[in-house]
Amino acid sequence: LALPLKVGTVGGTLKLNPAAALGLRIAGAASSSELARLMAAVGLAQNFAALRALTTVGIQRGHMTLHARSVATAAGVPDEQFDDVVAGMLASGEVKAWKARELLASAPAYHVAGADAAAKVILIGEHAVVYGRHALALPIPRAMKASATDNDVAWLEVPAWGIQEGVTEDSHLGRTVSLIARELGIGDRPFRLSVTSKVPAGMGLGASAAFAVCVARALAEKFGIATDDRRINEIAFECEKLAHDTPSGIDNTMATYATPLLYRRGAEGGQQALELSETPPLLVAFGHRRGSTRVQVGAVRTLRDETPGEVDAIFDRIDGLSRRAATALADGDYRLTGRLMNLCQGYLNAIGVSTPELERMVAVARRAGAAGAKLTGGGGGGSIVALCPDRRDEVRRALESAGFGTIAL
Ligand code: MEV
Repeated sequence: LALPLKVGTVGGTLKLNPAAALGLRIAGAASSSELARLMAAVGLAQNFAALRALTTVGIQRGHMTLHARSVATAAGVPDEQFDDVVAGMLASGEVKAWKARELLASAPAYHVAGADAAAKVILIGEHAVVYGRHALALPIPRAMKASATDNDVAWLEVPAWGIQEGVTEDSHLGRTVSLIARELGIGDRPFRLSVTSKVPAGMGLGASAAFAVCVARALAEKFGIATDDRRINEIAFECEKLAHDTPSGIDNTMATYATPLLYRRGAEGGQQALELSETPPLLVAFGHRRGSTRVQVGAVRTLRDETPGEVDAIFDRIDGLSRRAATALADGDYRLTGRLMNLCQGYLNAIGVSTPELERMVAVARRAGAAGAKLTGGGGGGSIVALCPDRRDEVRRALESAGFGTIAL
């Protein structure tokens, strides 16, 4: 991009204008030519962003979702009904304050077939669990909720993720919904699915499995198909295979049963529910990059193919950590659990699924007083989980002032 610019970094009004001085400090531009190049680069990036928005999902969709959210805020819609009301406005095409109030007034009637599902946090054992080792996971209960109503065509909306689309084979969520409809034997009968989510996608929190479970439950309820948790879990496991070829089954199991588990794939009686006297003081922090479970699981597979003995030895150590942490957690020994999480982070780094950003987040959390902090889920981006028995507010503040969003469990 050629951008004729005449900029200066010294003299003139720069000394008088503190905002200009601050801007320069933030940009870190050492000279006027560097500043000019930075401005051209920003311009180019903006052009690319605009092109991407125009040639892919389109500006309109994201914009309308954003607009609906601000209309709902302005209309004073409370948190509990927020996503339902946003979904209702988008579905009706009336993104107006009066519509938000109307939906709010009829909230109990408007909300049709409610079905929820849990997201999850893996405390220890991701990746090793794909190879038959134990993993320790805790649920994020009722993280997603789906409702299914009548419609002329199969339609899906997930306002929190900016999704409003016909159910087709062109998108991952579309393929997931189609698979669920086939598994349930719904045939060609149309429906409108509205899904609300408290967790972001691609952050290692099991959002895709939670999506599959709540959608399967909502569709089964809408069409009067008898199912039980075992069948829902089976269907969600099939959906997980769409996401990556060799799921361990931990995400769909957590999404279905929403209980703390020491999980082992396929093993007879391998899943041990943990009795915890309280929800452990956990914090999840989000990085700026999403992780792809498919990519990370693939990379670990390649590493294991090349150095099977070494990688299996690491998995064995992680297996031991998961089992020890399950006991420590049940005893309420958060210090020990934290130390075991830290050891696990070292192993995850060793198999290549951590990133500089995740390492930085882990360091910020530990420095602020977390007993343990590590990446959670597939890695390569996504989230970290920190166990904070006594300094959770400090850890949260440190992560947030370093620019990372958090949720407390
Ligand atoms: C993903 O949440 C956890 C992984 O171990 C994959 C799996 O278990 O299927 C990375």
